[in-house]
Amino acid sequence: MEIINTVDGLKQALDSLRKEGKSIGFVPTMGALHQGHMDLISRAGAACDVVVASVFVNPTQFNNSSDLELYPRTPEADAGLLKKFGCDFAFFPSVEEIYPENWIVPRVDLGGLDTVMEGKFRPGHFNGVVQVVSRLFQIVEPEKAFFGLKDFQQVAVVKRMVSELKMPVQVIACETSRTEKGLAMSSRNKRLTEEQREEALIIFKTLSKAREDAKQFSPAETLKRALELFETGTLKLEYLNIVHPDTLEDLTGHWVPGATMCIACFCGEVRLIDNLSLIEN
Ligand code: PAF
Repeated sequence: MEIINTVDGLKQALDSLRKEGKSIGFVPTMGALHQGHMDLISRAGAACDVVVASVFVNPTQFNNSSDLELYPRTPEADAGLLKKFGCDFAFFPSVEEIYPENWIVPRVDLGGLDTVMEGKFRPGHFNGVVQVVSRLFQIVEPEKAFFGLKDFQQVAVVKRMVSELKMPVQVIACETSRTEKGLAMSSRNKRLTEEQREEALIIFKTLSKAREDAKQFSPAETLKRALELFETGTLKLEYLNIVHPDTLEDLTGHWVPGATMCIACFCGEVRLIDNLSLIEN
């Protein structure tokens, strides 16, 4: 595996592979890598000839400076894991490489996908995501890019961005990786104590119970029951919604295929998000 820090260096390496007809798979990350990321690397390796991963804690997607400061950073361990799991190029750029002065941020109409849930509680977050992912796609020019469905709303936003900007990249959404007990893998879990990891299991319990309830109750009743169960735990809820999988609008009335329950909450100081599809697509 080659570690590259500059845009020019990465472009050069990839251009010559592209000329040889090799397909490029890309996994963008913010580091503090875990099994969930490694599953994305493996998926990329199975689908493409060359695997590129970026490790860049993107400042523009944090709306809270202490969240940015506290975001875990483990570059040496990240490089070791990427190598072990078959990544070919690990891109560790600086902020200046990603955002040069002459870089023009593309304008993208996200059709309201950016104003609900995460967008509501983290204003500007998705502008930052669009900014960095569009820039990374422009640098890497992947055929396929792999994203974890734990960030369900992010996947919807990135797909919309790709379609609006007519970028020739296929966005592949990959199932959320979970611990044996169901906690969604997240870099933020590194900040949880053992006790908090147990407490956080209420998230998956709530989502799983909602999937059962959805078989016999309406969306409104399923949501009400989910809230009641969640409140038996110790976590502080930010939002719990059942949404349409394409528009991300709250589901009122009847079920639709792919209807998804999304949650954001605090376990102590650590903000966690998760989601589960309640109705088969
Ligand atoms: O999901 C993440 O880790 C980040 O939002 C991403 C896609 C790497 C952009 O910074």
